[in-house]
Amino acid sequence: MDKNMVMGLYNDYVMQNYTRSDLVIKKARGSWVWSMDNEMYLDFFPGWAVSGLGHCHKRVVKAVSRQVKQLIHVSNNYYSEAQGRLAEKIIMNSFNGRVFFCNSGAEANEAAYKLARAFGQGRYEVITMQKSFHGRTLACTAATGQEKCQKGFSPLPRGFKSVPFNDKEALEKAVTDNTAAVMLELIQGEGGIHVADPDYVRFVRELCFKHNLLMMVDEVQTGMGRTGQLFCYRHYGIEPDVMTLSKSLGNGVPIGAMVVQKKISGILGPGMHASTFGGNPLACAASLAVFEAIEKEKLLQNTHNMGEYLRQKLGELKVAHPVIKEVRGMGLMLGVEMSTNAPRACECCFNNKLLINCTQGNTLRIMPSLTVTKGEIDQATEILDQSLERC
Ligand SMILES: Cc1ncc(COP(=O)(O)O)c(C=O)c1O
Repeated sequence: MDKNMVMGLYNDYVMQNYTRSDLVIKKARGSWVWSMDNEMYLDFFPGWAVSGLGHCHKRVVKAVSRQVKQLIHVSNNYYSEAQGRLAEKIIMNSFNGRVFFCNSGAEANEAAYKLARAFGQGRYEVITMQKSFHGRTLACTAATGQEKCQKGFSPLPRGFKSVPFNDKEALEKAVTDNTAAVMLELIQGEGGIHVADPDYVRFVRELCFKHNLLMMVDEVQTGMGRTGQLFCYRHYGIEPDVMTLSKSLGNGVPIGAMVVQKKISGILGPGMHASTFGGNPLACAASLAVFEAIEKEKLLQNTHNMGEYLRQKLGELKVAHPVIKEVRGMGLMLGVEMSTNAPRACECCFNNKLLINCTQGNTLRIMPSLTVTKGEIDQATEILDQSLERC
């Protein structure tokens, strides 16, 4: 098959609910992908932050290959070793809790909303942040503080309201007798790489204690080392009640998780929530390999070092190109806000064989793999430099 035939199949048979670039990917390794016509692209947004270790990381490939020969799936009415070991791994690296496994970020957040309602015993409201993004199911759409995601889907499920991010007063005012939980991303990814103020996060924590609300952090995008800590909440010196994970948890094998403090984990009992595929041995084996890679290859350190280096290079570009308004983010989750032409700059990068993302129409989202090298950052920033020159 050639490129046009593949694209033809999509045109004829695949739902047209995505905007796709003119690239058919044949294979990928690390920070690089190869197109069907053998062009090489430098991937600084691998799989929408899913391939956190880079594409086809050898530990994940090995673990999945081994697991697939032994046991792919069992129902959650039985036990399997990989799920137990992965839950232990997550808990040993986060807080004294328990894990519910599912398959995606939206599912992990859905579980969190159900948990909040069961916890609330009549209190049902979840407060989220404006410009947040929590997924595409109906409840997640209601939770997402962006009108453009909600348009056309009313009536949305009740019980969600969003307040301006990093605004203590607005949050405090929004709490009512019906409130059960507050959910936030510590760095809003889709919303344009906006980082939560440390002061604000501590305030949210205290407010939740004060009103007996669940503090729920959506770490679907920030989790698994992306910010230089295994989980972003650790930068803030607080512990949430609930944390949701997905994306790079399986480095490409679909898996999601809701992590809940042990003292409230009994709220969802048998029959109250479930997932057919959740925590299956194949996905859990992949995820165990992700943890192993992060530990053994010292990837948190690399994320910190390369994050600093990339930030410095982007800072240099800001000096050279006044169109760049701000560089922000943490670790290897960086945003470059532009005063104009961000979508064109992103397209220009694509034409110059660098894959990045543009969000909110004004911010370039740059999230290379945690294994990225200095040389790759040099290449990427050079392409960005040339692209900004031309756009
Ligand atoms: C912070 C956050 N939460 C939830 C989701 C939804 O995840 P999924 O697409 O796996 O349902 C995303 C996806 O981009 C996300 O960035």
